[in-house]
Amino acid sequence: MKRDKWMKSSGCAMAVGVLLLISVCGAQATGTTPVVPEQQEKVKTETQQVQDPYQDEIKPLTVAQCGQCHPGIFQKIKEKGKRHRFQCQKCHQQLHSFNPLKQNWAEIMPQCGNCHKEPPHGKAFTACLDCHKDPHMPLTIALDKNLVASCGNCHTSPQAQLTQFPSAHSKQGCTACHSSHGLIPSCMDCHKPHIVDQPLAACKSCHPVHKPKEIAYNSTETSNATCGSCHGSVFKEWSGTTSLHGKVNCAQCHDKHGKVPDCRQCHKAPHDAKILQKFPKCLDCHINVHNLPTKKK
Ligand code: HEC
Ligand code: HEC
Ligand code: HEC
Ligand code: HEC
Ligand code: HEC
Ligand code: HEC
Ligand code: HEC
Ligand code: HEC
Ligand code: HEC
Ligand code: HEC
Ligand code: HEC
Ligand code: HEC
Repeated sequence: MKRDKWMKSSGCAMAVGVLLLISVCGAQATGTTPVVPEQQEKVKTETQQVQDPYQDEIKPLTVAQCGQCHPGIFQKIKEKGKRHRFQCQKCHQQLHSFNPLKQNWAEIMPQCGNCHKEPPHGKAFTACLDCHKDPHMPLTIALDKNLVASCGNCHTSPQAQLTQFPSAHSKQGCTACHSSHGLIPSCMDCHKPHIVDQPLAACKSCHPVHKPKEIAYNSTETSNATCGSCHGSVFKEWSGTTSLHGKVNCAQCHDKHGKVPDCRQCHKAPHDAKILQKFPKCLDCHINVHNLPTKKK
C-alpha cells in the first residue's frame, strides 16, 4: 500500500532522483560534492596541491549527509528515533536501488527481522509495520483499529480484570481512558475526589482501576475523613465521642468496606460468661459503638 502511494507521488521525483544521484557521483569525482564546511577547506587545498581528482578515498556518507537530501527523515529520527537513532546504513544496506520497472521496493527495504530475530510480541504479531508505521519513529504508534482490536492480547491482565469484575469501567473501551498508546489518565480527569486535596495515589490504592468496585484499603493509613465524606452522620458522632473508640480509626474496625466487625475481635472476654449468656448483644448495654456511653458523661 505504502509503496504504491510513494511511487505515485514520487515516480517523477524518482527519475529526478536517479539523475541527481548520477550527477552527485560525478560531482564527487570532480571535488564539488556537497560536503560539510570543515572538509571543504581541506579538499580545496589538497586538490590545489596535487591536481589529481581521484586521489581521495570515497568515504561512506555520514548521517548528516543523508540528511541533506532527506531532511524530513533526519529530523524524525533526531527527535523521535528513540533507540533507532543510529546510522541509516545499518538498516539501509542497499541504497538508491529502487527500480519501478523491477518493482523491487520490498526487496531493498530493511527487514525488521534482520535485527529483531525473535518477534517481540509473539507469533501473532509479525506484520510490524501495521503498528510501527514509521521505522524512523518506532515508538510513535497510531491508536487505530488495528491496535485497538489487540489491546487485550498484549495486556491480558487489565482485560481479564475488567471482564471478571464488572463495573462501570468495564463498559468503557480501553481507549476512553488510554486516549493514546501508553497514556495513563488521572482519575480526576473524570471524577471529583471524595474530599478536598485527596491525592491521586489514594484513589488508586482503594480502587484498582480495572476493578474499581473491589475496594481494598489499608487499616492504618486510610483517612477517616474519606469515610466521613459519605457517612456524614456516623463521622460526626464518632468525631465528637468522649469514649476511647474515638481513638480507633474507622478502617481499623471496618477493615473491609461494608464489613461490620464482631466486638470480640478486639475484646476477648470482657464480662462474665453468665451475663453475656443473658445479654448476647453487646450493644444492648453499650448502645452506640461510635459513641459509647462513658462514666464521665
Ligand atoms: C531501524 C532501521 C532504519 C533506519 C535506522 C533508517 N531507516 Fe529508512 N527505512 C527503514 C525501513 C524499514 C523503510 C521502509 C518503510 C516502508 O516500507 O514503509 C525505510 C524507508 C526509508 C525511505 C523511503 C520511504 C520514505 O519514508 O521516504 C527513505 C528515503 C529512508 N528510509 C531514508 C532513511 C534515512 C535518510 C535514514 C537515516 C537518516 C534512515 N532511513 C534510517 C528503516 C530504517
Ligand atoms: C544527494 C541527495 C541524496 C543523498 C545524499 C542521499 N539520498 Fe537517498 N534519495 C535521494 C533521492 C532523490 C531519492 C529518490 C526520491 C526520494 O525518495 O526522495 C532517494 C531515495 C532514497 C531511498 C528510497 C529508494 C531507494 O532506492 O532506496 C532510501 C532508502 C534512501 N534514499 C536512503 C538514503 C540514505 C540512507 C542516505 C545516506 C546514506 C541517502 N539516501 C543519501 C537523494 C539522496
Ligand atoms: C539494523 C538493525 C535493526 C533493524 C533493521 C530494525 N531495528 Fe528496531 N531496533 C534495533 C535496535 C538495535 C534497537 C534497540 C533495542 C534492542 O536492542 O532491541 C531497536 C529497537 C526497536 C524498537 C524499540 C525502540 C525503543 O526506543 O525502545 C522498536 C519499536 C523497533 N526497534 C521496531 C522495529 C521495526 C518495526 C523494524 C522494521 C520496520 C525494525 N525495528 C528494524 C535494530 C533494528
Ligand atoms: C498490533 C500492533 C503491533 C505489532 C503488529 C507489532 N508491534 Fe511492536 N509494539 C507495539 C506496541 C503498542 C509497543 C509498545 C510501544 C510503547 O512502549 O509505547 C511495541 C513495542 C515494541 C518494541 C519495544 C518494546 C519491547 O518489547 O522491547 C519493539 C522492539 C517492537 N515493538 C518491535 C516489533 C517488531 C519487530 C514487530 C514485528 C515482528 C512488532 N513490534 C509488531 C505494537 C505492535
Ligand atoms: C503488540 C502488543 C501491544 C498492543 C497491541 C498494545 N500494547 Fe500497550 N504496551 C505494549 C508494550 C510492549 C508496552 C511497553 C512495556 C510495558 O510497559 O508493558 C505497552 C505499554 C502500555 C501502557 C503503559 C504501561 C505503563 O506501565 O506505563 C498502556 C497504558 C498501554 N500499553 C495500553 C494499551 C492499550 C489501551 C492498547 C490498545 C489500544 C494497547 N496498549 C495495545 C504492547 C502492546
Ligand atoms: C476508566 C479508565 C480506564 C479504562 C477503561 C482502562 N484503563 Fe487501563 N489504566 C487506567 C489507569 C488510570 C491506569 C493507571 C493505574 C495505576 O497507575 O495504578 C491504567 C493502567 C493500565 C496499564 C498499565 C498498568 C497495568 O495494569 O498493567 C495497562 C497496560 C492498561 N491500563 C491497559 C488497559 C487495557 C488493555 C484496557 C482495556 C481492556 C484498559 N486499560 C482500560 C485507566 C483505564
Ligand atoms: C476517562 C474517564 C474516566 C477515568 C480516567 C476514570 N474513570 Fe472512573 N468512571 C468513569 C465513568 C464514565 C464511570 C461511570 C459513571 C460515573 O460513575 O461517573 C466511572 C465509574 C467509576 C466508579 C464506580 C464504578 C461502578 O461500577 O459503580 C469508580 C469507583 C471509579 N470510576 C473510580 C475511578 C478511579 C479510582 C479512577 C482512577 C484510577 C477512575 N475512575 C478513572 C470514567 C472514568
Ligand atoms: C479509603 C478508600 C477510598 C479512597 C481513598 C477513595 N475512594 Fe472512591 N469510593 C470508596 C468507597 C468505599 C466507595 C463507595 C463504594 C460503594 O458505593 O459501594 C467509593 C466510591 C467511588 C466512586 C463511585 C461514585 C460515588 O461517588 O459513589 C467514584 C467515582 C470514586 N469512588 C472515585 C474516587 C476517586 C477519584 C478517588 C481519589 C480522589 C477515590 N475514589 C478515593 C472508597 C475510596
Ligand atoms: C463514596 C461514598 C462512600 C465512601 C467514601 C465510603 N462508603 Fe461506606 N458505604 C457507602 C455506601 C453507598 C454503602 C451502602 C452500599 C454498600 O453496602 O456497598 C456503604 C456501606 C458501608 C457500611 C455497611 C453499612 C451497613 O449498613 O451494613 C460500612 C460499615 C461502611 N460503609 C463503612 C465505610 C468506611 C469505614 C469507609 C471508609 C474506609 C467508607 N464506608 C467509605 C458509601 C461510601
Ligand atoms: C478493632 C478493635 C475494636 C473493636 C472491633 C471494638 N473495640 Fe471496643 N475498644 C477498642 C479499643 C482499642 C479500646 C480502647 C481501650 C482498650 O485498649 O481496650 C476500646 C474500648 C472499648 C470500651 C471502653 C470505652 C471507654 O471509653 O472506656 C468499650 C465499652 C468497648 N470498647 C466496647 C466495644 C463494643 C461493645 C464493641 C462492639 C460493638 C467494640 N468495643 C468493638 C477496640 C475495639
Ligand atoms: C470500634 C469499632 C468501630 C469504629 C472505630 C467505627 N465503627 Fe462503624 N461500626 C462498628 C460496628 C460494630 C457497627 C455495627 C453497629 C450495629 O450493629 O448497630 C458499625 C456500623 C457502622 C455503619 C453502619 C450503621 C450505621 O450506623 O450507619 C457505618 C456506616 C459505619 N459504621 C461507619 C463508620 C465510620 C465512617 C467510622 C469512622 C468515622 C466508623 N464506622 C468507626 C464499629 C466501628
Ligand atoms: C448487661 C450489660 C452489658 C453487656 C451485655 C455488655 N457489657 Fe460491656 N460493660 C457493661 C458495663 C456496665 C461496663 C462497665 C462500664 C464502665 O465501667 O464504665 C462494661 C464495660 C465494658 C468494657 C470496658 C472494660 C474496662 O476494663 O474498662 C468493655 C471493653 C466491654 N464492656 C465490652 C463488652 C463487649 C465486647 C460486650 C459483648 C460481648 C459487652 N461489653 C457486653 C455492660 C455490658
